[in-house]
Amino acid sequence: MAAGPEPWVNPLRDPRDKRLPRVAGPCVLVLFGVTGDLAKRKLLPAIYDLANRGLLPPGFSLVGFARRDWEDQDFAQLTHDAVKEHARTPFREEVWKQLREGMVFVPGEFNDDGAFDALAMALAEIDETRGTGGNYAFYLSVPPKFFPLVVQQLKRTKLADAPEGSWRRVVIEKPFGHDLESARELNAITNAVFPESSVFRIDHYLGKETVQNILALRFANTMWEPLWNRQFVDHVQITMAEDIGIGGRAGYYDGIGAARDVIQNHLLQLLALVAMEDPVSFDAESLRREKEKVLRAVKLPDDLELGTARGQYVAGWQGGVKVKGYKEEDAIPADSRTDTYAAMKLEVANRRWAGVPFYLRAGKRLGRRVTEVALIFQRAPHLPFSETQTEILGQNALVIRVQPDEGVTVRFGSKVPGTAMEVRDVLMDFAYGESFIESSPEAYERLLLDVLIGDPPLFPHQREVELSWEILDPIERHWAEHGAPEDYPAGSWGPPSADELMARDGRAWRRL
Ligand code: BG6
Repeated sequence: MAAGPEPWVNPLRDPRDKRLPRVAGPCVLVLFGVTGDLAKRKLLPAIYDLANRGLLPPGFSLVGFARRDWEDQDFAQLTHDAVKEHARTPFREEVWKQLREGMVFVPGEFNDDGAFDALAMALAEIDETRGTGGNYAFYLSVPPKFFPLVVQQLKRTKLADAPEGSWRRVVIEKPFGHDLESARELNAITNAVFPESSVFRIDHYLGKETVQNILALRFANTMWEPLWNRQFVDHVQITMAEDIGIGGRAGYYDGIGAARDVIQNHLLQLLALVAMEDPVSFDAESLRREKEKVLRAVKLPDDLELGTARGQYVAGWQGGVKVKGYKEEDAIPADSRTDTYAAMKLEVANRRWAGVPFYLRAGKRLGRRVTEVALIFQRAPHLPFSETQTEILGQNALVIRVQPDEGVTVRFGSKVPGTAMEVRDVLMDFAYGESFIESSPEAYERLLLDVLIGDPPLFPHQREVELSWEILDPIERHWAEHGAPEDYPAGSWGPPSADELMARDGRAWRRL
């Protein structure tokens, strides 16, 4: 008999490594809004990737619910196409086959009692045939206006009530409201049906490897901590620049804008992770408590006009292509005042950070796609060099590159080789691709698995959501009362007022 191929052994895996992989137990994931963009681009591929990595149990089942006159096979086809196009890991027929066996589609409107009764019956049948034990996660990938309906239906059908020994969880996608008041309403609706411990709010930035690495960088090392405060840090810049426009998302984006879309959640979460004290442990409560303390300490600029900036892209050139302005995008009203760029100067008023500005900026149709957190350090108090010797010396910086070129950069001054003394900035780089052979899982893989396992640390608590709105609401109100956003050409780095905001403080945005 010919010998088969040797089983593959990961040469880098230490045989003493006794960590158990985190694998979900038997359960069903019910996805509302399967035909939406998020489901196709992110959720369905992430489910496949988890299955491919062996992190879903054999009986795992996936139920799709949507307003389509579909059979199971249509849902399977949609999933198959989404996986082929967007999954991170290679397509394997045997993995797909197993996943396919647990796929069920339930057609219906959210106000259709019959459809939800059919959903309850389908779930009971899945429990019988696939041993999923009544463990259900309901993922609401639907516009927030449908949340109350869906949640009420889950209540009416008793699908929200977990029988002894099983669990029920609800997953909600941002936007968690559009201001403090609506966020509170949304929460009241959800919490009337699901206890807070069963509510998982997705902020997909927290699922990103590089964002979690902020915690590792800060709390697994000793060398940064002594510098991580107002004694050494001059200011912090948090940037989320996107090159894309709003694509087909006019309905969602117009009237919402950049600050509500990504600063209220992603950027303020980044700020919280950078500024927080070390948590007692990484359990959800400890982590959330420290983040909350930071959000509670955030102080707005005294003058909201000077301390913030807002812009809207007009037609311009991006990567050699002429692109439309925001108002020319499909379904955007010609008089829209929505901000597609937002910047603000915040302070974290506590002992560690008092007086250190945190500058946040986010925008669409900027020069390129890059998200980063940069700590810019104070200049050396005294330079024993002549001015000409340090002409090209900037400030020390630590840059956490969130995406797309994931890693960490340290910038410091170094002598230029030669017979004269000349000091210039150099960079020291850590790049994920060079240091690790494992590729990073997609944020949604990590977060979906955490939902199915019931592990909440990476999901913001309602208190964090509300505190973030408390920060943003006065700014949004000020903007609403003080005219339209300033134009900036697509492909540029935002409106002049954003540069002026920095210039007034004698600083400049990092050139990316
Ligand atoms: C979403 C925003 O939360 O994040 C989008 O609604 C934005 O407007 C997206 O494009 C960016 O995500 P990522 O992971 O590509 O940085």
